[in-house]
Amino acid sequence: MDERGSLRDLKSFEDPRIVPLGDGVYGACFFLMKLLPARYMLERAVESGQLTEGGTICESSSGTFALALAMLAAQGNFRLLIVGDWALDVGLQRRLLALGVELDIVEEPHPRGGYQLARLERLKKHLANRPGSYWPAQYSNPDNPLSYAKVAAQIIDEVGQIDCLVGAVGSGGSMCGIAHYLRLLFPELVLIGIDTPGSVLFGQPGALRQVSGLGGGIVPANVDHSQFDEVHWLSAAEIIAAAHDLHSDRGLFMGPTSGAAVKVARWWGETHPGKTAVALCPDEGHRYVDTVYDESWVKANIGGWSDARRKRPLTVTSPTENMAGWSRFGWGRRSLVEVLSQTMSSK
Ligand SMILES: Cc1ncc(COP(=O)(O)O)c(C=O)c1O
Repeated sequence: MDERGSLRDLKSFEDPRIVPLGDGVYGACFFLMKLLPARYMLERAVESGQLTEGGTICESSSGTFALALAMLAAQGNFRLLIVGDWALDVGLQRRLLALGVELDIVEEPHPRGGYQLARLERLKKHLANRPGSYWPAQYSNPDNPLSYAKVAAQIIDEVGQIDCLVGAVGSGGSMCGIAHYLRLLFPELVLIGIDTPGSVLFGQPGALRQVSGLGGGIVPANVDHSQFDEVHWLSAAEIIAAAHDLHSDRGLFMGPTSGAAVKVARWWGETHPGKTAVALCPDEGHRYVDTVYDESWVKANIGGWSDARRKRPLTVTSPTENMAGWSRFGWGRRSLVEVLSQTMSSK
């Protein structure tokens, strides 16, 4: 290895800070949560010979996974090609380019699978043109959820008994991975996934979404629906307002999915006194200074956020309902097919 170092050199960046947020609620606050699954997947790929020094990694991502891969590729001396979309903001694009990443941005969504499917189709073309390149495939690679064992161990070490875990769902790796390990000790753990209207992950009809980091236009294999007890959907305005609240109330400058997770965890804490809830806070706020934390961007793109918040969730009877704001559905550890067929047949 040259003077650049190795994949393991970034390991100390992986662990979350566990921050008490009052009334039995804790935030597991990451600098960049995706560093952990990215390193784990790259190490397994190197071990199995799928990735060799100087080799090429190709991935589709519009956010934190791209950044994590870029940091690791620079350390490990790999080439990296990222297929992204609108969610890859200019600041992040500059940072990826500075880390030597080759970027390909898709401009149009796929008519059925949105930007996520459009990115995947473009990625497949790149993979075909670069034989021998490695595709981490965070949406389906079982090493993504598996990588989270040490986070579960750290949360247990610092918090003790955990009754509820709350977090946004994108690939599904973090929530399903951490819940799997926590339930080895706490089988009753309540798992609450956060999604947003227009994301098909938990049954909403697909539509364009304005907040990155959660939801999607296709259902990833790494979302194990049968682990979730509840699903909550928050509007873009509510998610953004929640990030502002976390910053102003607690001084925690985090991304929008962190704000959403803490908002829902605090609600759960209030409705379950004496119990302990942990909210996953996957990244810091710096990437969002020109969007989520810019009042004029929020006004122009979301129509403002200050009035648009429900104080508590509205319980819905089907995940396919039209949702105007914070909504909640008792998922009951069922598969997506089970939930959809049972809610249809009860109509
Ligand atoms: C900021 C942020 N929060 C939450 C998530 C969801 O994590 P996961 O992909 O493990 O479901 C992501 C995924 O990319 C993310 O970028």
